[in-house]
Amino acid sequence: MSKNALITGAGSGIGFAIAGALLGRGWNVAICGRNEAKIERASARLAGASPRGNGSIHAAAVEASDPTAVKRWVAKARERFGPPDLLVNNAGVGAWGDIGSFPDEAWDQVMAVNLKGAFLCTREVLPFMRAKGGGYIVNISSLAGKKGMAGISAYSASKFGLIGFTQCLNAEEKGNNIRATAICPGYVATPMSAGARVPAADMIQPEDIAATVLYLLDLSPKVLIQEVVIERIGA
Ligand SMILES: NC(=O)c1ccc[n+]([C@@H]2O[C@H](COP(=O)([O-])OP(=O)(O)OC[C@H]3O[C@@H](n4cnc5c(N)ncnc54)[C@H](OP(=O)(O)O)[C@@H]3O)[C@@H](O)[C@H]2O)c1
Repeated sequence: MSKNALITGAGSGIGFAIAGALLGRGWNVAICGRNEAKIERASARLAGASPRGNGSIHAAAVEASDPTAVKRWVAKARERFGPPDLLVNNAGVGAWGDIGSFPDEAWDQVMAVNLKGAFLCTREVLPFMRAKGGGYIVNISSLAGKKGMAGISAYSASKFGLIGFTQCLNAEEKGNNIRATAICPGYVATPMSAGARVPAADMIQPEDIAATVLYLLDLSPKVLIQEVVIERIGA
């Protein structure tokens, strides 16, 4: 029987690559993003990713920081595929600037999507995973969640927060066979890193993150990896 995943922010980049990898394994995948046309295009591009056609896609425009929209999306995915085995909290935004002049609205937006969004999606899936006897939650944090640097305070604080959230989740849910891992990559070649000084070809590729998710899923259910740090090497 097919397994079921929910992935936020899968219209491009890392989320899109994870969706493709899971469909390739015959999973059913519910994907979302803010932009309806973009998530529909992603869904169409992913349509052939399931080799024997045994995995299906459900795509929806969802604001990850909106509790009502998240509730509706999770309920719809459950209705279509059954209870989730995996949630990937991947939706994220960046806003750059020094603390001294950083706007309130940008701070609130980064926290709302990167941190509150992960909390809302997690809260929605937990009852289904508990009832099913277990599940996996992957939170896409960042190297910026391990080390602070100038000019990225809101983003970095949200990604540090996501690691703390992952640890609390593991402490609370270990009796329910629900595990969580925070993945902390350096630069990944996606639209988000398009303005970076590092050439895209020298970055980690979205498929490397997808392969990491598959690796985690293949581990024994008794193994808990709280955090995976992925750095690029070379020039
Ligand atoms: N690229 C890197 O170097 C890097 C490194 C470490 C960690 N990360 C993390 O990886 C995750 C994925 O980013 P990416 O690099 O793949 O960039 P990306 O291609 O820009 O993907 C970000 C995704 O998040 C979605 N999103 C943004 N705000 C949202 C909201 N409010 N509600 C729902 N979806 C929303 C976007 O959808 P729409 O376009 O439809 O809004 C988009 O699909 C992020 O959490 C990012 O912080 C990235």
